[in-house]
This record gives sequence, structure tokens and C-alpha cells, in this order.
Amino acid sequence: MNTVKTGRELRAAIAQARAEGKQIGLVPTMGNLHAGHAALVEKAAQRVDFVVASIFVNPLQFGPSEDLDKYPRTLAADQEKLLEAGCDLLFIPDVDEMYPAGMAGQTRVCVSGVSEGLCGASRPGHFEGVATVVTKLFNLVQPDLAIFGQKDYQQLAVIRTLVRDLNMPIQIIGEATVRAEDGLALSSRNGYLSAEQRAAAPTLYRGLSEMATAIRNGERDFAKLIAAAQQQQLSAGFRPDYLEVREANSLRPATADDRHLVILVAAFIGSTRLIDNLAIDLDSVT
Ligand code: PAF
Repeated sequence: MNTVKTGRELRAAIAQARAEGKQIGLVPTMGNLHAGHAALVEKAAQRVDFVVASIFVNPLQFGPSEDLDKYPRTLAADQEKLLEAGCDLLFIPDVDEMYPAGMAGQTRVCVSGVSEGLCGASRPGHFEGVATVVTKLFNLVQPDLAIFGQKDYQQLAVIRTLVRDLNMPIQIIGEATVRAEDGLALSSRNGYLSAEQRAAAPTLYRGLSEMATAIRNGERDFAKLIAAAQQQQLSAGFRPDYLEVREANSLRPATADDRHLVILVAAFIGSTRLIDNLAIDLDSVT
């Protein structure tokens, strides 16, 4: 696995792979990789001949009081995991490489609709930062396909919309969330949790699962389910951010008649903000 730092080196390596007739897959990340990221790379390696991963902690998607400075940087361990998962080329640009003219005047990509509400409301500017950096990575790599985790459900919807609206010839694949045995979705931010917070953290997924079971059993009073789950969060030491039931594709608020739903949650434990989601397909017999 080759590691390159500049767009120039990246394009040269990709041109060579293209010349060899290879299909190219991209897995964009911010590093501090865990088994969830490895699953994205493994999926890419099954689908294409040449897998490119990127590690870039993108300042444009962090708010002023967020964790940009303390976001874990673990390059050597990440390189090992990527190699093992089947990555062929790793791109690790620095901020000047990605934003040579600075961030203030940077052209930005704004995806309307699905970016609004949920994390878009709690983290103003976040999805603009994500859509901008992902567009730049797509233009640099020009992959045939790109793979993202379903854990960031709204982000995946933003990227699908971006690709559709801007006619990018890239297949977007969403890969299932990888969970710890107790249900907690794997996330780089789990590393911020104290032992006590880590023990409380599965409350989020437990709440989603209980809501999903109630909905499958016919409950349509979403507000009642949300109130009960947020009460559980409070009892476990969380400060709820949002908990909502949405239509799974459009992300508009769900109605009692919708068959494809997703429950999305964000909550703080201490200063760490965790997110998770659970999709429910009422047409599939489980
Ligand atoms: O999901 C992430 O790690 C980031 O938001 C992404 C897609 C790599 C863009 O910086």
C-alpha cells in the first residue's frame, strides 16, 4: 500500500491504475480507524480492483466549539488496518493541500433539503463542510464507487443527493453499522468516553431497538415513544440532542402511513456527542 500526501501524487497513482484497466473505489475517512472502517475497505476491495482510502480531519466540517483539535490522529495504526483490509493507496493530505487558498474563500457545496434538521440543525455548517470535502475528494480520485458507513445516516443521504444533483458518475454504497457486543455503534468518538460513560452508552441503541419493536408491533404514536426513550437517556446520564422518526429515503418527518422509516438519535454524554440510527422496513417480514 502506497501512502501519498499531495493531489499530484494521488492523480499519478490513479492514472497508472486506470491505465491498467482497474476499477477504482474510494473510502473517505478522518482516520482513527476501527472495525467499521475496515468493513468499508473490505467491501470496496470485493467490488473493485483498486481501493483508495483517504484520511483527512476536515476542519471545514467542525464547528468552533467542536473537537477538531482533540480528534484522535493515529496514522501508523491506521495504515496497518488499511493494509490488512485490502487498501491499495492511502491519501493523507494536510490542510494546506486541501485548502491552499485558505478556508475563508473556499468554494462550498451546499446540499439543500436532506442537510436540514437533525445534525444539520445541531451542527450548523457541518454538512456544507462534508459536501465540500467529499466533492474535492471525488474530483481528485474520480472513483467508480465510494463507500460510506450507514452510522452517519444523514451524511450518506447528503452524499447521495450531492452525487445525483451534480451528475457525478459515482456509485454510492452505504455499509451497515458495525456494533460492539453490547450494541454501541463503533465510532472514533467512543474513545473519549470514561469507563462509566462507556457502560451507559448502549442506552442509545437499546432505546432505538425498543422503539423499532413498538413500531413493528403497530405503535404509531411516535411522540410517546420518543419521550420514553429520552427519559431513559436522561436516567442513564445523557443529555438528549435529538431523537426523531423520519421517512427513510427523503428524511422528512414520518407519518403513520410510511412503510420505510429511520429513527435517528444524537445525545451528549459528558462533552461527547454520540449519534446512531435504526432503519425499519415495515414491508419486510422479519
Ligand atoms: O464520515 C467521515 O469520516 C467524514 O465526514 C468524511 C465523509 C470522511 C468527510 O470528511
